[in-house]
Amino acid sequence: MADFKQHILVTGGAGFIGSHVVRLLVQKYPDYLICNLDKLTYAGNLENLLDVESQPNYRFIKGDILDQNLLAKLFNAYAFDGVIHLAAESHVDRSISNPKEFLETNIMGTVTLLNAAKDAWQENREGKRFYHISTDEVYGSLGETGLFTETTPYDPRSPYSSSKASSDHLVRAWHHTYGLPMVISNCSNNYGPNQFPEKLIPLFIHNIRTGKPLPVYGDGQYTRDWLYVIDHAMAIDLIYHQGVNGETYNIGGFNEWKNIDLIRLLIRLMDQKLGNPQGHSESLISYVTDRPGHDRRYAIDAHKIHKELGWEPSVNFEQGLDATVDWYLNNQEWLDRVTSGAYQAYYAQQYAQHD
Ligand code: NAD
Ligand code: TYD
Repeated sequence: MADFKQHILVTGGAGFIGSHVVRLLVQKYPDYLICNLDKLTYAGNLENLLDVESQPNYRFIKGDILDQNLLAKLFNAYAFDGVIHLAAESHVDRSISNPKEFLETNIMGTVTLLNAAKDAWQENREGKRFYHISTDEVYGSLGETGLFTETTPYDPRSPYSSSKASSDHLVRAWHHTYGLPMVISNCSNNYGPNQFPEKLIPLFIHNIRTGKPLPVYGDGQYTRDWLYVIDHAMAIDLIYHQGVNGETYNIGGFNEWKNIDLIRLLIRLMDQKLGNPQGHSESLISYVTDRPGHDRRYAIDAHKIHKELGWEPSVNFEQGLDATVDWYLNNQEWLDRVTSGAYQAYYAQQYAQHD
């Protein structure tokens, strides 16, 4: 193995956020070895990384974070200095229909990875770092006002957010009990290129383009705080290098949107880009049965990462959304491939529940 300054294990690097993190690290740090461990579930796609796959400082390993033997072998072979842990089951609707898979991957998978790092680093923890990527959904749901800070008590309410909350607690437990060096960040909703079209923004871009109904859950007045995925990747790079051991950082865009307002903005933008008369796709809006236990509002207070590490988003929402829509319109084949096969069955089942 060439002489690399650092060896980093990224888990879930073939997914949406992970692929942006891998690209950033591989390109920015040619003197680091970046190993991407991914099981390639429906959400993992090596096409997301075609532009970096032949870089000399990149390796891909197909495997499961639940595979204890594989993890021991990898830590042994690559002597990782750091772990950036993104592998997870990530979609709330899927967690409602199939919670067990979320508990296995998000909780037991994280524990398996924590143990592998603990065992590998027990002789010398100097310069080591376990970085766990989490979500603002662990804090529960806000009313009309207020923001989630790093000290907001945990109050997860979906199988997905409960599994992420459990994994956050376990990472802190491994720090306090075994001295594992770690940091955690909790981020708001991401959007951008390469997001699987089960999440709101890519799903609605796809449906507007193909003239399919836009299934708005409940009254559409639910609020999310949206952050461009590349800004999240840049925050992860910063926290990995400069975050303080044992600390948590909230990441968000100070960019709250009620779903229905965001959908109307997306419709305006798409109609313009598709050459449709303004308002043409408004008729696709279809209010459907609400998601069970739907959290009303998420919003992040990102002052700590701004004050302590100097991070702020590099693009505003209009710029980020514009780039995102362009990416989907220019990468139709990517979308066609990921929406063929198993996606059809998922879509039919998921939206039959919401008729
Ligand atoms: P994603 O679903 O797009 O990707 C998850 C990746 O993990 C996929 O490549 C998948 O193949 C891989 N994976 C799943 N199970 C695995 C296993 N057992 N072993 C190895 N690999 C496995 O998810 P995402 O949206 O990119 O989210 C990445 C992380 O960021 C998750 O931990 C998620 O909780 C967190 N997060 C996401 C958001 C968001 O808005 N998407 C916001 C905050 C935090
Ligand atoms: P989503 O992208 O699934 O992210 P999360 O649930 O993690 O916030 O959903 C974002 C918001 O959009 C959420 O309030 C649910 C809503 N939504 C719909 O109204 N219709 C849909 O088809 C989807 C997928 C989401």
